[in-house]
Amino acid sequence: MDKSQDACLEVSKVWKVFGSNSGRVFSSDLRHASKEKILETTGCVLGLRDISFRVSRGEFFVLMGLSGSGKSTLIRCLIRLIEPTAGEILIEGENVCKYDNHSLLDLRRNVTGMVFQHFGLLPHYTVLENVAYGLKVRGAPKEDRYGRAQEAIETVGLKGWENYLPAALSGGMQQRVGLARALATNPKILLMDEPFSGLDPLIRREMQDELVELQDKVQKTIIFVTHDLHEALKLGDRIAIMRDGEIIQEGTPEEVITAPVDSYVQDFVQDASPAKVLTAASIMEEPDLLLYEWQGPKVAKTLLKRSRQEHAFVLSKERRLVGLVNDEILESLEQRGAGHLGEALITDVARCTSETLVEELFPLATSSKYPIAVLDLKGRFLGDIRNRTIINSMIQEAPELADE
Ligand SMILES: Nc1ncnc2c1ncn2[C@@H]1O[C@H](COP(=O)(O)OP(=O)(O)OP(=O)(O)O)[C@@H](O)[C@H]1O
Ligand SMILES: [Mg+2]
Repeated sequence: MDKSQDACLEVSKVWKVFGSNSGRVFSSDLRHASKEKILETTGCVLGLRDISFRVSRGEFFVLMGLSGSGKSTLIRCLIRLIEPTAGEILIEGENVCKYDNHSLLDLRRNVTGMVFQHFGLLPHYTVLENVAYGLKVRGAPKEDRYGRAQEAIETVGLKGWENYLPAALSGGMQQRVGLARALATNPKILLMDEPFSGLDPLIRREMQDELVELQDKVQKTIIFVTHDLHEALKLGDRIAIMRDGEIIQEGTPEEVITAPVDSYVQDFVQDASPAKVLTAASIMEEPDLLLYEWQGPKVAKTLLKRSRQEHAFVLSKERRLVGLVNDEILESLEQRGAGHLGEALITDVARCTSETLVEELFPLATSSKYPIAVLDLKGRFLGDIRNRTIINSMIQEAPELADE
């Protein structure tokens, strides 16, 4: 399949230079100069330099970087709230840089929804009116817009607050209104510029959890700006890290944290524990020996001995985990003349799924003396994780990151 068909957003060679005669910067040798040099020579501020990336439909894409790195400039350029100096921005295959005012308004009202850090609510409008506002400017009939606003309000968990003014709501609730307002028009793309940065850490975490849940339901394409690595790692399918107006690394949370491209990214990820991003799937192993429930204890004993293992998982025909045996159990099965392994097994084996974070494996590991079994959603065995593997996954990453 042609991959570009699933691209919801394609940004290609986008530049933003603030200041007069800005075209001179990117069309001369200055295009490679540092931000400081450009400012010194021309008085122009380099906002974005040669930015390219693509985002698939339904993807959660995070832009991360320090203050001043160009995140807001970039997200605003996408719908031309800031006019790019050069480059192409395709949304659903259409070059929005070529749009006239009419198409541009349509893009902002119907195709994208924006959530800002400072909520941006109208203080004299009720929650319901604020959420319905986007539909109003779009010209939707009153009944329709209130119906849809009501739905969006319920989606973000604010039922009962429809007739209050924003001032009566806490920060977290106000941001829910902001989110509901963006969702009410059912946009294809949600643009979120540090939406949770103004909130208390606890509320912020809660909002992140809710956004993850919400995204599961609505499956929007989301462009999300943050300067918080943990937030990026928690929310993003992919993360782009910006510095001085450029994207210097782009990848999945795992790629970013395990292979930072340079010391800037490394500084970012330094305090992020790999345990918060690595999943069971990335560290599980294929055991040397797997036994099956229809096998007899004698065969099992021989196999166990030959593989020099102390215990082995026992699987069913469908590769479901039935339990675990060790020498002792096999011995007693043999003495009892048991026909096959299904008869007496250790079944209190710790289990997890391939998506389980390494962080969540710690309590499992300490509660069991056997390896943790990794199962798929149907209970089929995928691999195992030993305590040693968990520890290695931690120490292999950590000192390397902390080195420089
Ligand atoms: N209107 C403007 N005129 C001149 N320079 C600007 C303008 N807007 C932004 N800039 C500059 O562009 C650069 C990027 O700013 P931007 O606001 O995009 O950063 P940011 O990554 O969003 O930072 P923050 O985390 O603080 O929000 C900065 O150097 C800023 O000074
Ligand atoms: Mg910003």
